[in-house]
Amino acid sequence: MGTALVILAAGKGTRMNSDKPKVLHEIAGAPMLVHAMRSAASLDPERTVIVTGFGHEDVARAVADYDETAETVLQPEQNGTGHAVQMTRDLLGDFDGDIVVLYGDTPFVQGETLLRMQDARVDNDLVVLGFEAADPGKYGRLKMDGPRLTAIVEHADATDEERAITFCNSGVMMGSASLMFDLLDNTNNDNAQGEVYLTDVVGIANARGLSVTAVTCDETETMGINSRLQLADAERIFQDRARAELMEDGVTLQRPETVTLAFDTVVGRDTVIEPYVFFGPGVTVESGAHIRAFSHLEGAHVSRGGVVGPYARLRPGTELAEDVKVGNFVEIKNAQIDEGAKVNHLSYIGDAVLGAGTNIGAGTITCNYDGVMKHRTTIGRNVFIGSNTMLVAPVTIGDDAMTGSGSIITNDVEDGALGISRARQVNKPGFARKLFEMLKAKKDKQTKEAE
Ligand code: UD1
Ligand code: MG
Repeated sequence: MGTALVILAAGKGTRMNSDKPKVLHEIAGAPMLVHAMRSAASLDPERTVIVTGFGHEDVARAVADYDETAETVLQPEQNGTGHAVQMTRDLLGDFDGDIVVLYGDTPFVQGETLLRMQDARVDNDLVVLGFEAADPGKYGRLKMDGPRLTAIVEHADATDEERAITFCNSGVMMGSASLMFDLLDNTNNDNAQGEVYLTDVVGIANARGLSVTAVTCDETETMGINSRLQLADAERIFQDRARAELMEDGVTLQRPETVTLAFDTVVGRDTVIEPYVFFGPGVTVESGAHIRAFSHLEGAHVSRGGVVGPYARLRPGTELAEDVKVGNFVEIKNAQIDEGAKVNHLSYIGDAVLGAGTNIGAGTITCNYDGVMKHRTTIGRNVFIGSNTMLVAPVTIGDDAMTGSGSIITNDVEDGALGISRARQVNKPGFARKLFEMLKAKKDKQTKEAE
């Protein structure tokens, strides 16, 4: 039986104090909504429907960027969580499988937890995810009778006795689409908040003699984000968890607390990451690489044995083959660097291909941009590019070629040739000494006049 994921994300998130919809604020380089979508990947959903409200267009765009098969539906007014799920009826009314409801502002529900809910679904019509709350505050309370969940009472509607319950509703719910919509047809907004509560379906199901149960997870998984402070907490929680996972996977982090990972960072075994390294989205580092201190990587692939940094910047489209070295103050963008090539100091390599074994001298720049368009630089195998070479693209340097230091290379250099393009040096005997004397005399005269 298939699964349709429904993510509620219509709320404005007033406490974020932002023009941006709450669910688009990022954790580890991805909108919190994307984290919610990723946690449900364990269920391999056939359909994903996001219920949007505030900032509908922006949210729809972000969703499409991440998963073009995901759909969005607008909830014009936020009349409650039950009303939000009702909005998906046009899309999922005929869906022959389960609906799983998640919240877009609750990014840490674990895939494994959803699988446990799926297990519990085998013997139950509805499954709710609950947690023991340290401070139950305004959460909905789960009323249990043995293994049966008999009702969820919202804090606003609860008696003192009910408020004393510490087992709370995370908001995650699972049940067949046909049953959910059927139960929702029987809800109303006759409650303290005047909203259509999704939680009411539990009581209605019980009244029909259906079986409902709750699966328990750790409170950290149900953390909702409502403020910038909570966003920062969420970032910290994510980073701590992701770093611990990398170390378990055999990666050395010399000072883990200084390394920033992205939601999708992949690092192979026995790679060493020095302090203060930043990973933006889309980075894969293979085994046995070494990422040295203060490097910034985004959209890049580092192969086995690569050495990057200190102070290197790898921008999107960087492909480093095995044993490539990228040294300090080097920026690489949209470039493929083949096996064993070296770009060790103070260079910019953009829109380029570098052959295996090639060495790029200090200060070399691929001049890829003419102010309007970008152009490519192609450098062959075992080439030696002299220090401070300007490679004015489009330009091609053949295999086993060289360029003289300080050259401005505007024409192709063929295989095995030396390309050199700079003013010829002239030495003027005794001239420096004469110049020094002249300048010193001038300075002495000025000092005297000032006295
Ligand atoms: C809800 C639950 C409560 C649970 C708590 C967990 C209900 C009635 N209550 O309460 O039992 O303990 O979550 O955090 O379900 N949303 C919409 N459209 C709406 C209303 C909400 O999309 O009309 C979205 C919000 O953007 C948010 C989520 O649903 O992502 C939850 O809404 P929120 O108002 O935070 O729910 P609570 O009242 O806190
Ligand atoms: Mg509410």
